[in-house]
Amino acid sequence: IHNIIFKDSNEASILVAQEIANLVREKESQNKPCILGLATGSSPIKVYEELIRIHKEEGLSFANVITFNLDEYYPMDKNNIQSYFYFMHEHLFNHIDILPENINIPNGKVSAEDLYQSCIDYEMKIKAVGGLDFQLLGIGRTGHIGFNEPGSHLNSGTRNITLDHITRVDAAPAFLGIDNVPRKAITMGIGTVLSAKRIVLLGWGANKAEILKETIEGEITSEVPATYLQHHNNTTFIIDEGASSELT
Ligand code: F6R
Repeated sequence: IHNIIFKDSNEASILVAQEIANLVREKESQNKPCILGLATGSSPIKVYEELIRIHKEEGLSFANVITFNLDEYYPMDKNNIQSYFYFMHEHLFNHIDILPENINIPNGKVSAEDLYQSCIDYEMKIKAVGGLDFQLLGIGRTGHIGFNEPGSHLNSGTRNITLDHITRVDAAPAFLGIDNVPRKAITMGIGTVLSAKRIVLLGWGANKAEILKETIEGEITSEVPATYLQHHNNTTFIIDEGASSELT
């Protein structure tokens, strides 16, 4: 893992967006699709804003891009404003020229009996297009990446999981109370994330400082799933001063 510490999360996000834009252009010049793994939440918002700007002002096309989002609440209707489907359209997809058929987000509305197969299909679809070229991550205070909560296995794939209490507390404001936060979610696995050729994790603010210290400096453990990133040879943590304040 490399860490890069920035004074300003906006400036950092612009650099991450530029890396993604360069990858999209490079793949386009090779006539290959660019396969992006994307995250929701507060951390990547500025990256998406900058990608939209590059699309509008510099003509970057996403026609060649195929996306796979990390996760979705379960159960969750995609029309619900709390869905990650809604979030991604609001913050990115509605403002760029990506083809709707190239957008993949776990289906939060699948029936209980089709859930297992839909997770297998998601995993197979990522493999079928050649795997993730780039995976963008945030980190939860439990040490989750995607919704891989403590206890997740190194080789886990896309699956249905139970959200940690702390994760539900952190999501409560968006749902106007913890009682409204779903108890479950569908998430790509640790194995899915680690199969990406390149991983960038974003961490902003002092409330991420403690978990980032455990993630970067601690032993690799299923109790802090983000520590599994220490196994990956092309991962960069892009963090601001607040988030880096506990690092030795
Ligand atoms: C979201 C996701 C989560 C978030 C994490 C941090 O798709 O996979 O792991 O990245 O919960 O959330 P924020 O960025 O809101 O602090």
